[in-house]
Parts: sequence; structure tokens; C-alpha cells
Amino acid sequence: MKLQFAAALLVATFAAGAYAAPVQYTSEPVQINRTAKADYLGKIAAASPVTVLQKQGQKVKVRVEGWTLVEYPTQIFSAPGVRIEYASFDENNVVKTNPKAGEKVVQGNKWVKATAEGWIDARTLTSDLNGLWKKGAARHQQACSSCHAAPQPDHLTANQWASTLPERGGRVGHTRAGVNALMFKYLQTHAKK
Ligand code: HEC
Repeated sequence: MKLQFAAALLVATFAAGAYAAPVQYTSEPVQINRTAKADYLGKIAAASPVTVLQKQGQKVKVRVEGWTLVEYPTQIFSAPGVRIEYASFDENNVVKTNPKAGEKVVQGNKWVKATAEGWIDARTLTSDLNGLWKKGAARHQQACSSCHAAPQPDHLTANQWASTLPERGGRVGHTRAGVNALMFKYLQTHAKK
């Protein structure tokens, strides 16, 4: 009896936990707002992990977790010194830093663990991360093999991909903008370590 009760409790706790904090991924770059209605804060990059906190119609409140530069806390990245961007904000006060959770100096820059919260369109979220990588890989074959053979993702590091495919001003074909956003994340996350 006792054991059965404990098992039931465990299942219930697990289910509640899974419901309270399911991690999902943005299938494309998406605008993030302060409220469910409006008040633009910035954007979340494609294929970024977010924790869903609350739901209201087609909108969800999410938390983004990662690392930010102490000197310039408007962006959240996957790891200290790694330019795999999860989110970027227009203002300084959106990203909350948490030095107790982690701090690290990389090449003279101080990084700190950070979170940010806001509302996004629920329809952009998916739990199928592999499906996103398949789409990114397909776009890579399509967009990068007309002038030269499409270079393998592990040809460069994540940071080298960031400078090879700039947001603006890259040569023809060398951009992370628009339809290339998911492909860019695919290349960075499958890059040379
Ligand atoms: C419009 C033509 C064109 C397209 C499309 C194009 N590239 Fe290039 N790419 C070039 C040229 C030209 C070079 C320079 C080759 C050289 O350095 O000799 C180059 C060089 C590169 C290099 C440097 C190679 C190295 O390691 O030295 C990488 C990496 C690269 N491209 C990646 C990409 C990716 C990823 C895509 C798809 C998003 C892409 N390219 C699409 C024209 C293109």
C-alpha cells in the first residue's frame, strides 16, 4: 500500500513538473513582448530553448536562460564566449543576471548566467528539435551549394560561422538573415568544437 502511494505521488509530481516547465524551441526568429498584448522587448532567435511559464490564448510567457556579457547585458547566448544567440533585447533592463549561478571570464570578457522573460506567439514553438535541424540542413544544401560545395557544419566553429554569415553586409549567399536563420543555428550547433 505504502509503496503504491509513493509511486502514485512520484508520477503525479513528475507530471506536474513536466507540465509546469516544458522546454520547447522556437521554429523561427520571433518577437518577444513585455505583456501578452504588446510592448516590444526584442527577439528570440530560431531554434532557441525556452521554458513555457504561462499560457493565454495564442500567447505564451516564456523564460530564456543562458549567458550574457556583464558589460553589455542585452543579449543571451548559449555559453560563455560562444556566439550562439538565444535572444537579443532593445533595452538593458530585460536581462536579469545571476552571478551566484555562474560567472566566467573568456578572452578578457566577463560572462554571467542570465535569464529573461516575456510573451511570444505560441504557434512558433515546437518540441521537435530534430525536425528543426532537418529543415536547417535542407536549406544548407539548397542555399550553399550553387557557387561552391556546401561546406560541412564542422568545417568551422560556432563563432567562425557567426563571422562568416553576418546578419547584414555579407557577400551574396553569405548571410544569416531571413530564411537562413534556422540554417545558421543548425551550422552553429553542429559546428567544430
Ligand atoms: C553567390 C555565390 C555563393 C553562395 C550562394 C555561397 N557562397 Fe560561400 N563563398 C563564395 C565565394 C566566392 C567564396 C570565396 C571562395 C574563396 O575564398 O576562394 C566563398 C567562401 C566560403 C567559405 C570560406 C571557405 C573557407 O573555409 O575558406 C565558407 C565557409 C562559405 N563560403 C560558406 C557558405 C555557406 C554556408 C553558404 C550558404 C549560406 C555559402 N557559402 C553560399 C560564394 C558563395
